[in-house]
Amino acid sequence: MQNDIQEVLISEEEIQKKIKELGAELSKVYEGRNPLVICVLKGAFIFMADLVKNMTVPIELDFMAVSSYGASTKSSGVVKIIKDLDVPVDGRDVLIVEDIIDSGLTLSHLIELLKSRNAKSTCVCTLFDKPARRTVNLEADYTGFTLPDAFVVGYGLDYAEYYRNLPYIGILKPEIYSH
Ligand code: XMP
Ligand code: MG
Repeated sequence: MQNDIQEVLISEEEIQKKIKELGAELSKVYEGRNPLVICVLKGAFIFMADLVKNMTVPIELDFMAVSSYGASTKSSGVVKIIKDLDVPVDGRDVLIVEDIIDSGLTLSHLIELLKSRNAKSTCVCTLFDKPARRTVNLEADYTGFTLPDAFVVGYGLDYAEYYRNLPYIGILKPEIYSH
């Protein structure tokens, strides 16, 4: 698996350090409140787990699965809900945890949905951001790392469902895509 990586973009140590900072910041932001933290599956599952361990306020967790990519590396522009929330968001302070923002379509769709369900507040924390690829006007409230316009894998992010378990993020060798 490691042999398929051309370049490590952000190391495990850098990622963990940043998540500690984000957790501390969000703990301050939500002090005295009990946010509903929503993990956008599948990519955000590792980030979510590490982030909440660094949050000191009481939180409730839920998961949502949306799809826009399939096995391709380009967005289809279609966002489909595959798994909806179990918990009502009505009147809740919602913190959306996302792995990466690319076009912004997934998140803008999700935020609209949560607002229409009367969330009290919505806030987005993404570990990675590729602002150069945005097609809708959307900015995360909290961002770990800004990335260049390249397809990355690891730390929850996949190519055709593989590489999610790498503890760092990197770029695949070009020959992997042509398999
Ligand atoms: P949009 O375009 O809606 O996309 O902002 C967000 C979702 O797209 C996936 N994505 C990636 N997945 N490497 C991946 O493995 C990438 O470089 C990448 N860029 C976008 C991801 O699932 C994210 O939630
Ligand atoms: Mg994916």
